[in-house]
Amino acid sequence: MCAGEKFVETKNNRRILVVESDDDVAREWRSILAQNGYQADSVTAIPDALERVSAGGCDMVILDMDVAASKGMPILESFRKESAGPSLPIIIAVNINLRPILVKAIDVNFDDYLIKPVDGIELLSRVTSVFRKYDLECELARRSEELQKARQDLKQKESHLIQSAKLAAIGTLAASVAHELNQPLAVIRGTTQMMLLEKHHNESCNTDLETVLLQSGKMSKIIDHLMDFSRRGQDERTVVDINRTVHDALAFVHQQLAKRGIAVIFELADKLTGVMANRTQIEQVFLNLILNARDALDGKQSPTLRVRTRLMSRPEDIREAHAKAPKQIRTPINRRGYVVIDFIDNGCGISPEHISRIFEPFFTTKPAGRGTGLGLSVSANIVRDHAGWISVESNPQAGASFSIFLPVAPRWHR
Ligand SMILES: Nc1ncnc2c1ncn2[C@@H]1O[C@H](COP(=O)(O)OP(=O)(O)OP(=O)(O)O)[C@@H](O)[C@H]1O
Ligand SMILES: [Mg+2]
Repeated sequence: MCAGEKFVETKNNRRILVVESDDDVAREWRSILAQNGYQADSVTAIPDALERVSAGGCDMVILDMDVAASKGMPILESFRKESAGPSLPIIIAVNINLRPILVKAIDVNFDDYLIKPVDGIELLSRVTSVFRKYDLECELARRSEELQKARQDLKQKESHLIQSAKLAAIGTLAASVAHELNQPLAVIRGTTQMMLLEKHHNESCNTDLETVLLQSGKMSKIIDHLMDFSRRGQDERTVVDINRTVHDALAFVHQQLAKRGIAVIFELADKLTGVMANRTQIEQVFLNLILNARDALDGKQSPTLRVRTRLMSRPEDIREAHAKAPKQIRTPINRRGYVVIDFIDNGCGISPEHISRIFEPFFTTKPAGRGTGLGLSVSANIVRDHAGWISVESNPQAGASFSIFLPVAPRWHR
């Protein structure tokens, strides 16, 4: 076939770079390729070709091995390394008298070859078939990525389900245990109060009775809390007072934190706007973050957890915070603003290689039996279900700072 004849109707506009030292050959190939809908260009030297490839200026290279031979076979790998895409298609062209070069090049990775002099039909059919193969490979990679994502989604949903089922089971158990404990405790408290009213005890006995009353009062509060926790429906959403929920979550683990010498500093905003939320789930999220901070503070000097609540309503602040949210758990912006809850600890921090993975289900750095790696993924799912997100910042050894963004409820709900 001669230059000027058309082989197939193609309007694909793909860019082909011919690396060829013989001007006549380069011109002829460019013309054949251009006639058939490709954008063909040529260079004569390897450095120019590599520069073009690294700038993303072509979709395929046809490389004359006369030019390439001066640089040795590894030059093919250099082309692949320079290209930004998954794998740049390369066709090599070899003079008929240089066949041995072709044999050597077989060890190296290329997509097809041409033996010069090249017939136009052959040139086009090789180019077309290499592009077809390349397209199929790209499609395969895209589909397997989709499959991977679907599997990950499924895994996440599964863990969410497990967590919900666990919560429901704990709720039922908590309700029945709390109910059973409530009665004997009421008897203990009543009897103690009556004994305190009797005048004939000595002072030390009265002090002991007051201790019993004080401690049983604390038990009664815990029981009330458990009953409250289990009574609330799993999907029920109401206007939630976030400051109160922070206190409730901390009340659960207050003793544990105190025992480890962890100081809790509250910086809670006055008159915080309410959010429409499921209180149980939000409390669960707070608990997960508090327990993570507890673990991260293990063995640290002056272990401290700062819990801060604030209202974010300036559009520029919202945009900035939204841009910093991890992509996989980011939800669309809510123009009414966000109630933000920060949990800031001065614990061990998170290393840069781990920080992008902490929201993955089952990712944990804790020893077997200490962590399931579900806390943050479940929390991120819950917050996402509430149209919010969780952000994290951390410097290893300097602690971690988690921020939960929950959208402000519409005015008629507040
Ligand atoms: N405040 C924190 N400081 C340092 N690392 C943290 C902090 N919070 C989370 N991490 C890291 O993120 C990982 C994942 O946390 P996640 O809560 O999902 O699971 P886990 O705490 O390991 O297990 P569990 O399922 O019991 O919560 C942790 O193993 C830890 O490496
Ligand atoms: Mg955890």
